[in-house]
Amino acid sequence: MNILVLGGGGREHSLAWAILQNPKCDRLIVAPGNAGIAQIAECASFDICDGGAVVEFAEAESIDFVVIGPEAPLAAGVADRLAEAGIPTFGPSAAAARLEASKRFTKEICDAAGAPTAGWARFDSAAPAKAYIREQGAPIVVKADGLAAGKGVIVAMTEEEALAGIDEMFSGAFGAAGAEVVIEEFMDGEEASFFVLCDGETVLPVGTAQDHKRVGDGDTGPNTGGMGAYSPAPIMDEAVTQAALEQIVRPTMDEMTRRGTPYRGVLYVGLMIKDGKPRLVEYNARFGDPECQVLMMRLGAQALDLLLATAEGRLAERHVNWSEDHAMTVVLAADGYPGAYEKGSVIGGLDGLGETSWEMMFHAGTSSAEGRIVATGGRVLNATARGRTLQEARDRAYAMAEVVDWPEGFFRSDIGWRALA
Ligand code: AMP
Ligand code: GLY
Repeated sequence: MNILVLGGGGREHSLAWAILQNPKCDRLIVAPGNAGIAQIAECASFDICDGGAVVEFAEAESIDFVVIGPEAPLAAGVADRLAEAGIPTFGPSAAAARLEASKRFTKEICDAAGAPTAGWARFDSAAPAKAYIREQGAPIVVKADGLAAGKGVIVAMTEEEALAGIDEMFSGAFGAAGAEVVIEEFMDGEEASFFVLCDGETVLPVGTAQDHKRVGDGDTGPNTGGMGAYSPAPIMDEAVTQAALEQIVRPTMDEMTRRGTPYRGVLYVGLMIKDGKPRLVEYNARFGDPECQVLMMRLGAQALDLLLATAEGRLAERHVNWSEDHAMTVVLAADGYPGAYEKGSVIGGLDGLGETSWEMMFHAGTSSAEGRIVATGGRVLNATARGRTLQEARDRAYAMAEVVDWPEGFFRSDIGWRALA
């Protein structure tokens, strides 16, 4: 079959890598892709958030299946346009993707479904929001309602920080995403991410992961999109997993179906776990980046069958073949990230990396110029490996990261510290 993947990050490189291992795939196109993806698949360039342009391209190239990687095309309704055109697609409708696109919507669904989550209130102007913060006290969490590229959340340890956050959000710093804010009770505990496929009826877990959001070693410094991840997450034992499925995921899916907007795709369930009890932090309507990279490392060729079964409503027939292994990915980022960084530095030392099924150097923000790989983003490479133990996966991933010749880049040295301790 001819397959089109939308996106151009490390997540999409890992999806492409796994899809190509499945003999069902005859031809793979990724839009826009990146320099690493271009080494294994065709890349194409068009506006992936323009549903009409995506349908036109898919029809012209006789695409049989589309996999949508990032949230922006989902929120823009690209899956809806593809469905109208009769093209099988992995990724939820815009109505179902509101579980990621609106924090308030998610909180309302949780309340209706009885899913445990932080207490909350919503505001569309600063004065009542501030009064509420003064009443509740710190720590407290302030969130822009809409999509803000992972930057619309302020976990305030003091009242002053929370009040300043309100001013920032209503000053337009987050555009339309900040026109409404959700203020949440601060939840204490350990975070983990749980990934489930849903076809509108059946829910199938496809793995757990933990990522490191802070830029610096010891989980210090500003938040990023994620500096590394590993799978499985040790804290997600059988009891926590079952509790998350029964108390959070299934009631949410049932509520979405009841509202006439069934969820079909991967649901990224961000959890806070304390004393063995999970509570929902957030949903995302897509795979995480870099969490997808470690999941694909572990799933390999079966990933395509699972994505197809999700799109075609056949998940009840499927199960996941788990190998008893662990995976880790270490993100190499440009100096300055998540603040301002230079583009265009040359990356060497990549030849021969990732030539076994145990390891892969996934690319994120890269492009090629005159036969050389150059950095074009904040998060640039993902040194990703599998092992029989997490330690083995870690050693392989770091061995790859260390041979990369890129003076303008950096990576954290302690990915997985909690699980390895
Ligand atoms: P979100 O974009 O909603 O995932 O928030 C980003 C990060 O902020 C999460 O991964 C958590 O580390 C933190 N966070 C969000 N909401 C809460 C909360 N209610 N209590 C504690 N931490 C939170
Ligand atoms: N790594 C966090 C995310 O993809 O949202």
